[in-house]
Amino acid sequence: MRKKVTVIGAGNVGATCAMFLANKELADVVLVDISEGIPQGKGLDMAEACPIEGCDVKIFGTNSYEETANSDIIIQTAGFPRKPGMSRDDLLMKNYEIVKSCISQAVKYSPNAIIVVVANPLDAMCHVALSVSGFPKNRVVGMAGVLDTARFRTFLAEACDVSVENVTAFVLGGHGDTMVPLLSSTSVAGIPITDLVEADKLAAIVDRTRKGGAEIVAYLKTGSAFYAPAAATVEMVESILKDKKKVLPCTALLEGEYGVDGLFIGVPVKLGVRGIEQIYQLTLTADESAALKNSAAAVQDLVDVLRPHLG
Ligand code: NAI
Ligand code: 2OP
Repeated sequence: MRKKVTVIGAGNVGATCAMFLANKELADVVLVDISEGIPQGKGLDMAEACPIEGCDVKIFGTNSYEETANSDIIIQTAGFPRKPGMSRDDLLMKNYEIVKSCISQAVKYSPNAIIVVVANPLDAMCHVALSVSGFPKNRVVGMAGVLDTARFRTFLAEACDVSVENVTAFVLGGHGDTMVPLLSSTSVAGIPITDLVEADKLAAIVDRTRKGGAEIVAYLKTGSAFYAPAAATVEMVESILKDKKKVLPCTALLEGEYGVDGLFIGVPVKLGVRGIEQIYQLTLTADESAALKNSAAAVQDLVDVLRPHLG
């Protein structure tokens, strides 16, 4: 039997996720949105692309959670995106209400699903999804690190004039300006990045990575990035559905790892059929360790604002 994925939010990120999922024939896809007609129209349009693309999956849109029943994965994209000048954190309370409402409805029909959170501010919204669903921590994972790392890899591959596939890297921490691109574990086909790119150029790439989301918002003006975010989400979903056990930077609830307790932040995890199957603790330099603590503190500030609202 085919797997089933619910994508909540038929906007830019949600619709692009749905299309990538169908094109890769990973699962049947249900696209849910509060807006009437939009998920239905986009779902039908995507279904009509399937004969051309040669994908045998069912894909449709709806306003009803009943039709999402028994999903293996719930992708939570519904939420407001940033406009120029806004930080991801400005979205906190608005998106709290949306994520709470969507997740509480979705988990009623899919109590065994794995939730992949995308809505911003990402780390805080993972807390909302965990609290509202009552799921164990391995079944709530956030998408940010795969995207931030993909941006970092893009810029490094360009600087070294090599294939993006040769660049291995991790961006950890919260999905915000304090994120931590790790130079100590970045390499090009095993060659340390610090041997290949001068320090000032690397510092500029780290800075551009941290501001990668804002760079796109400044161009688009009416919303934020969606192609790379959707590709990142689908890489995570594929690893779960196919039990590939890829090691990816994802947002996970830490309970002591990296000296952080009770907080979702981005760390390397193994993603398989049980969701987060393992959290890896890398050996960090003193600077990286301090940067990760600083990033965790920024996430903690947001979660503290939400705390009275969380169960
Ligand atoms: P969008 O505005 O294109 O789509 C959002 C969709 O959510 C709309 O179709 C809207 O009708 C729907 N929606 C709003 N309230 C809803 C509700 N109560 N129930 C169901 N649907 C509802 O926004 P976009 O670009 O798709 O971004 C979605 C979210 O993902 C934003 O919060 C954005 O900041 C975040 N994001 C996070 C990334 C990450 O790395 N974690 C990357 C890119 C975006
Ligand atoms: C991004 O990084 C807006 O979080 C989104 O593009």
